[in-house]
Amino acid sequence: MRHLIDILELSVDEIDALIETANDIIANPEKYAEKCRHKKLATLFFEPSTRTRLSFEAAMYELGGNVLGFSEAASSSSAKGESVSDTIKVVSSYADIIAMRHPKEGAPMVASMKSDVPVINAGDGGHNHPTQTLTDLLTIKREIGRLDNIVIGYCGDLKFGRTVHSLANALSRYKNVKMVFISPEELRIPDYIIEEVLKPLGIEYVETADLMEYMPELDVLYMTRVQRERFFNEADYIRLKDSYILDAEKLSHAKETACVLHPLPRVNEIAIEVDEDPRAKYFIQAKYGKYIRMALILKLLGIE
Ligand code: CP
Repeated sequence: MRHLIDILELSVDEIDALIETANDIIANPEKYAEKCRHKKLATLFFEPSTRTRLSFEAAMYELGGNVLGFSEAASSSSAKGESVSDTIKVVSSYADIIAMRHPKEGAPMVASMKSDVPVINAGDGGHNHPTQTLTDLLTIKREIGRLDNIVIGYCGDLKFGRTVHSLANALSRYKNVKMVFISPEELRIPDYIIEEVLKPLGIEYVETADLMEYMPELDVLYMTRVQRERFFNEADYIRLKDSYILDAEKLSHAKETACVLHPLPRVNEIAIEVDEDPRAKYFIQAKYGKYIRMALILKLLGIE
């Protein structure tokens, strides 16, 4: 039985195969319409979500399966003090596969050790978000045409932004990828990504506080919001929240072939006017999330 807690549990070949399956699902959805008949997905979301939960649910319905679960901790027995371990032990007797989001880093890992069915980490605190990374990789592959030989700029809250941590880990295994980390000093990418991932693998990277410094070089600009829910004090959040706002003028300095991604939700960091630019790919990115999650469900359930 396989779980997906960290993107590094998937080899590059496995990621490439998931992308291939997602592309086939996009091209031939009817082939997949009954693949998960009589299977159930449990979505256990202890933290808010729109895209991840609903795209998982849509994915399972489009595979012919069913869905059960909860969308907030308050409507589950965790509000009465039940542990994650006990919740998972019980739910794994009701469902064939579980997608779980939790504010505590490591909670999905603990869940996977107690579960009788595959567990997918749908985001754990400020740590990891592997299925967002699969979504991002599918989007880059479809929109740019490659995952090797790219320059990617990550901009915003790189400290708490779990999507950036997972994506940097994943892209570090592709060839000739240069990473530009754009953030205020207080929200820099965690040291462990630099020291344990980028340096040992010899990945070219730079850190800067200036969004414009590398703009003309970027193939992908990955914008992120400042993660209000992870701040200890509101004053720091207010001070940092509008550090970067991508607008049409700033984007005019980017390559014609660049693409702008964002895991969403957006707050202020991309001006609405950018939505009209053909390089803005964040809504199609959210759509692709459903297809890659369909591919992942099939893989973890062992369905061809
Ligand atoms: N990208 C993402 O995780 O969005 P949600 O929080 O809406 O699931």
